[in-house]
Amino acid sequence: MQVYRICYRARINWLRLRLCLSDEIEHSLSRIRQINRRAGVTGALLMTDNYMIQLLEGDTGRVLETLYCVMGDPRLSDFEAIFHEPSRDRLFPDSLMFFRDLTERDGPKRHAQLRSLIDRPSPLSRQEGLDAFSTFADDVAQGRLTNGMMMI
Ligand SMILES: Cc1cc2nc3c(=O)[nH]c(=O)nc-3n(C[C@H](O)[C@H](O)[C@H](O)COP(=O)(O)O)c2cc1C
Repeated sequence: MQVYRICYRARINWLRLRLCLSDEIEHSLSRIRQINRRAGVTGALLMTDNYMIQLLEGDTGRVLETLYCVMGDPRLSDFEAIFHEPSRDRLFPDSLMFFRDLTERDGPKRHAQLRSLIDRPSPLSRQEGLDAFSTFADDVAQGRLTNGMMMI
């Protein structure tokens, strides 16, 4: 079945968080996954020191509605499209919203290359965006990464 996918990067407005970071993440992800389950939307979200990069995939209308909703969220600004296109498959078919914290706080060395790619000021290409998500999509597909991100 054909799906539509959208990938964007947006700057994090750290001052707009309402809770401490770990609670904010846990609360938001649980809400996001609840809404995405109803909308049939799957995808992934990567957080770096300055940016969120997100992949949304599903029915075209549902994916666009989700994006408009996210774009109105005061915790994000300066949205940049990385790609938006029809696709034959989903990269994260079993993840209502896979999440990874790639900030320095999660270990300076871990994911350092990916962090600096996402955090650099210049725009990301379609291929760079796809590669960033593919790393994790392969791990999820092969069962190397599980827990809180699956269709549960
Ligand atoms: C980084 C980020 C990613 C988000 N991703 C989604 C998403 O995938 N799906 C969704 O419905 N809302 C997403 N949201 C949340 C919406 O912006 C909004 O908070 C949500 O629709 C719930 O709103 P409500 O609890 O006021 O109804 C995201 C928000 C942020 C900050």
